[in-house]
Amino acid sequence: MYSVRNVTEDLYWVGANDHRLALFENAYPIPRGVSYNAYLLMDEKTALFDTVDWSGCRQLLENIDHVLAGRPLDYLVINHLEPDHAGSIEELLLRWPKVVIISNEKAFMLMRQFGFHVDDHDIIEVKEGDTFSFGKHVVTFVFAPMVHWPEVMVTFDTTDGVLFSADAFGTFGALDGKLFADEVDFDRDWLDDARRYLTNIVGKYGPHIQLILQKAGGILDQIKYICPLHGPVWRKDLMYFIQKYDLWSKYEPEVKGALIVYASMYGNTESAAQALAGKLCDKGMTNVAMYDVSSTNVSQLISESFKYSHLVLASVTYNLGIYPAMHNYLMDMKALNVQNRTVALIENGSWVVKSGDLMHKFLDEEMKNMTVLNERMSIASSYREDKAIELEALADAIIESIQAE
Ligand code: FEO
Repeated sequence: MYSVRNVTEDLYWVGANDHRLALFENAYPIPRGVSYNAYLLMDEKTALFDTVDWSGCRQLLENIDHVLAGRPLDYLVINHLEPDHAGSIEELLLRWPKVVIISNEKAFMLMRQFGFHVDDHDIIEVKEGDTFSFGKHVVTFVFAPMVHWPEVMVTFDTTDGVLFSADAFGTFGALDGKLFADEVDFDRDWLDDARRYLTNIVGKYGPHIQLILQKAGGILDQIKYICPLHGPVWRKDLMYFIQKYDLWSKYEPEVKGALIVYASMYGNTESAAQALAGKLCDKGMTNVAMYDVSSTNVSQLISESFKYSHLVLASVTYNLGIYPAMHNYLMDMKALNVQNRTVALIENGSWVVKSGDLMHKFLDEEMKNMTVLNERMSIASSYREDKAIELEALADAIIESIQAE
């Protein structure tokens, strides 16, 4: 059965929701599901903007059939070739062999690589800044390489001020009937997933996001709708989300506060982390979050690392190295370009205590602009009363550093 919503009078959401996929990109848990958004414009000519993952193809076809109501599909605009959006192109071409595909050179190259037989169809290869008219609606194509793949472009409908933003401004989470961000409590229910989506999927490409934000900045007053490929459409309070994207892509924290991540084998390193968290709260801090690195998906840790100004890494020494799960978290932070953070260290060990020095070395040598506080809590096997002075000093140093920013 079809399930469509109007975005504007003549633009329809015709995408699909996915609650069956456990891991997005086979990597990131999505307990709230995900939507694959596709949009169908009913002008003098009809135009579909992107398709959906193969798992949502039947829903897409039913939706398109319903909206077209017997009209032909004239154009297929492809902004992004990753298979969660391009997976249904082949089937679309079988159903509507006369459809004209509009995309760019790199995207057509990828279509051929994926085996979509696009050369059996009419294609229009666009360049940066090209315009195209579907009748009443005139669109401009703006290239946005590496947001998130090299071929990505966004399409701006200058007639109604609709920005088809590809992966930008997307989020995990199925729509389930809602379409617009103003139909949900975004800050309460969606922001964490939006941050986890952006930081893990495109976090590495902050400078490229900044470039597209700069391009958008020139036409900000003309943008009335942002239609991403995942998650809600924005038609109100656009700057709320644009400013979040600006912060995340500049690697600037959203909140002043401490994220404590601990790696503990038997609970002793955790005990030190708990003592520090309690001490920080005793001293008046309210933004303290704590996670066990072993039981928290690293995508959540990455998202939180983008959120908080200060990180506390507490790790046991394991086989004379950093505990593997903590090391993996550090490697992920490096891969996703986490930077500009102040870090406090807690180290533990029974044979020898080495994890603090090793984490410090990693932060200094492998990551960008990470400031490590001089104060460090070092414990042998377990946190005991004789370390109370070190704990106090560490808590004070964290709070002073937060207040100094
Ligand atoms: Fe949602 Fe980069 O694809």
